[in-house]
Amino acid sequence: MSFLPRPAESMEGGRFPRRAFQRDPARAETIDDLRAIAMRRLPRFSAEYLEGGAEQEFTLRRNREAFDRHAFRPRVLRNVDGRDLGRTVFGRRMALPIAISPTGFNGMLWHEADLCLARAAAAAGIPFSQSTVSNIRVEDIGAVPGLRHWWQLYVFGPDEVWRRLVARAEQAGCEALLFTVDTHVLGNREWDRRNYVRPLELSLRSKLDILAHPTWLAQVLGRGLPRFLNLAEFVPEAQRGGFGIARWIGANQRESLDWDLVAEIRKAWPRKLVIKGIQNEEDVRLAVKAGVDGIVLSNHGGRQLDRAIAPLELVAAARAIAGPGFTILVDSGFRRGPEIVQAIALGADAVMLGRATLYGVAAGGEAGVARALSILRAEIDRTLGLLGVRSVDELGPGILFPSAG
Ligand SMILES: Cc1cc2nc3c(=O)[nH]c(=O)nc-3n(C[C@H](O)[C@H](O)[C@H](O)COP(=O)(O)O)c2cc1C
Repeated sequence: MSFLPRPAESMEGGRFPRRAFQRDPARAETIDDLRAIAMRRLPRFSAEYLEGGAEQEFTLRRNREAFDRHAFRPRVLRNVDGRDLGRTVFGRRMALPIAISPTGFNGMLWHEADLCLARAAAAAGIPFSQSTVSNIRVEDIGAVPGLRHWWQLYVFGPDEVWRRLVARAEQAGCEALLFTVDTHVLGNREWDRRNYVRPLELSLRSKLDILAHPTWLAQVLGRGLPRFLNLAEFVPEAQRGGFGIARWIGANQRESLDWDLVAEIRKAWPRKLVIKGIQNEEDVRLAVKAGVDGIVLSNHGGRQLDRAIAPLELVAAARAIAGPGFTILVDSGFRRGPEIVQAIALGADAVMLGRATLYGVAAGGEAGVARALSILRAEIDRTLGLLGVRSVDELGPGILFPSAG
C-alpha cells in the first residue's frame, strides 16, 4: 500500500486532461469524461477553484487512493434480477444511495448552477444540499418540485446571522440542516491564490484567460457576477456589489466553534441535524452524545487540512461507535459506482458527491448533472449485479477483502 504522490493529480487523466473527448455531456462514459469537458470549458481560475485541494494535495490524493485498500469478493449463482438501488435516509427512501454535497459559488461554473443541481437531484430522486454560500435564494431552491432539500450552514458573524438562516431554511421546507464544522480556519489553497493579485481580485493573466473561454464568459459572467444571495441581507447595501459579500464573509469568519453552539443549533432547528466534517472517532462519539441525527464523514474534498485521513477509512469505526440507527454519510473522493458500493458495505448509509456532480454541471448544466447521476446509477447497478447482490440494503463488510473493522 502506498500513499506516494502520483504524477497525475486526483483523477484518471491528471488535473487538466488534454486527451480527445466528446464535448457532448450526453456522450460522456464516465465522471472523468464530464470532468474533461468541464476543464475545457472553464477558465483556469474557475477550474482551479473546482478542482484543487489544500497545500500539497496529499489529502486530495489519499481520498482517491483509499478505495484501493479494499477489493470485492463477489458471490455467484445468485438471483440478481430487479436490483434495488434505493436507500432509506431520515426515514424516507431515496432512489440511489447518494446525495449531492453542498458546494459554494456554483454560479461560477454555470448560470444558476444551484438550480440545475437541485432539479437534476429531484428528477433522480436524491437529496440536494444547498450551501450557505450558494448563488440562488433558499426559497427558490425550496420551490423546485419534488426536491429533498438540505441546507448547509456555515456560522459566521453574530448569532443572529445563523439564527436567521436557520429560520429561512425551515420556512423554505428544508428537511435537514448540515452544520459544516471543518472550515472555521480556511484551508491553504495556494493554487487558488495564484490566480489573484490580491484577495478576490483576479490577476491580469486570469482575466486574459477568461477571454480565451468565450462560451463560459457569455454563459456565466455575461449574465452577471454570481452573488451570495442568502447573505445579502446581512451586508450593508453599499458593500453588496461585486465580491463585497465574499469580503464580508472573510471579515466575519469565526475561528472557534464548539459543542455548545451545536446545542444551540439543536434547539433552534426542529428537523434533522447533521454535523458535516467529522474526521475522528472521538468526534463521532461526541456527535452521538450531542443528540444530532447524523454526521457526514468528510475532509471537504481535500480542500482544508492537508495530510488528513480519507473519510472512507473511518466509516467502519464510525459505524461501530454510533450503532445501527444513527445516520452516517460520507463524502470526499467518490467518482465511481463501485466506490460508493464500498462505502456502503463498510457501514455508510449513503455517499455524498461534491465534484462528481459539479463536473456534470460545469460540463452541461442540468443535463450534465443528470448525465453524472445516470453514469453512477448504471455503475452501482452493474456492481451489485456482479457482486451477486440484489439490493443496496444487503451490502455488508462480508463482500470486501480484507474485511473491514
Ligand atoms: C468547489 C467546492 C465548493 C465547496 N463548497 C462547500 C460549501 O460551501 N460548504 C460545504 O459544507 N462544503 C463545501 N465543499 C465541500 C463539499 O461539500 C464536499 O465535502 C466535497 O466536495 C467532497 O469531496 P469531493 O469533491 O471529492 O466529492 C465544497 C467543495 C468544492 C469542490
